[in-house]
Parts: sequence; structure tokens; C-alpha cells
Amino acid sequence: MIYESYSSEDTFNLGFKMAEAIEAGKVICLDGDLGVGKTVFTKGFAKGLGIEEPVNSPTFTVLQVYEDGRLPLYHFDTYRIEDPDEMYEIGYEDYVYGNGVSLIEWPVRIEEIIPDDAIYVKIVKDLDKGFDYRKIEITEA
Ligand SMILES: Nc1ncnc2c1ncn2[C@@H]1O[C@H](COP(=O)(O)OP(=O)(O)OP(=O)(O)O)[C@@H](O)[C@H]1O
Ligand SMILES: [Mg+2]
Repeated sequence: MIYESYSSEDTFNLGFKMAEAIEAGKVICLDGDLGVGKTVFTKGFAKGLGIEEPVNSPTFTVLQVYEDGRLPLYHFDTYRIEDPDEMYEIGYEDYVYGNGVSLIEWPVRIEEIIPDDAIYVKIVKDLDKGFDYRKIEITEA
């Protein structure tokens, strides 16, 4: 499925809608360059799960857990991960194979340990269509 976003609100709303329909145990990989809107999507997604806590980019913490929504949300940002083994130390498998929903920013950093049935959300800019334009492609396994 391909969506076109013309503003951060559009991207937020797409995350929100996806969360309303998501089932427990799903893993969603947020693929795309620096500053493309992965965290904006995550904020909308969290809101769509009914999470009221503010969601920030967990770049320095790798993982943030939000428990106050319809399902637990595990928000990973693996930008600073150098070796996928570092993920095991924080209990990665318990989360991704657990009963919440995992959102993973920078999945390319840990490609070899992403579950086979992960959903990919790929966000790309197209400056010909404007500074705020994003093409968002969602691929289900
Ligand atoms: N259509 C759009 N969708 C999402 N964000 C947009 C859009 N247009 C402009 N923006 C802006 O782009 C920025 C996206 O920042 P965000 O932190 O979500 O990026 P990111 O992909 O998480 O970056 P990082 O790789 O550093 O984690 C925000 O400042 C947002 O307002
Ligand atoms: Mg981010």
C-alpha cells in the first residue's frame, strides 16, 4: 500500500489509523532517512493506541516502553546500535515476540534479527513534490 503525506499531521494520522487496527504481537519497522518522519509516525501510532504519555525519540535509550494504551508499545530506536547482539542485552526477543506492539526505527541496523513477519513502513522524501511531502509505503509480510 502506498500513501502520500503532505504534512506531519498526515503522517501522524496514518500512524494513528494503523494503531487502531493493529493486533498484539505485531512488529513494525520504520524505515527511512534521518528526519524523514519516523518519530512523527510513532507519536500518531501511540496516540492511536490510546497512549497519553508524551512520546519522544529514544535515540539515547534504544527502547522506551509505554504501558498505558490498549496494547503495550515498545518503541526502539536502533540508530546507535553497532552490533545486533547489543539488542539481546536489553531483552529484545522478549519484546518483539511478546504481547505488545513493537515499532523499530532504523531496522537496517539490526536487519538479521528482525522477525520474518514484520510489517515495513518505508518513508521517503520527494523534493520535487515539496519540502513536506513524504511517500509512505506499507508492506505486510
Ligand atoms: N509529511 C511529513 N511527515 C512527517 N514529518 C514531516 C513531514 N513534513 C515535515 N515533517 C517534519 O520532519 C521532521 C521529522 O522528524 P522525525 O523526528 O519524525 O524524523 P525521524 O525519521 O524520526 O528522524 P531520526 O532518524 O532522527 O529519528 C519533523 O520536524 C516534522 O515536522
Ligand atoms: Mg526518530
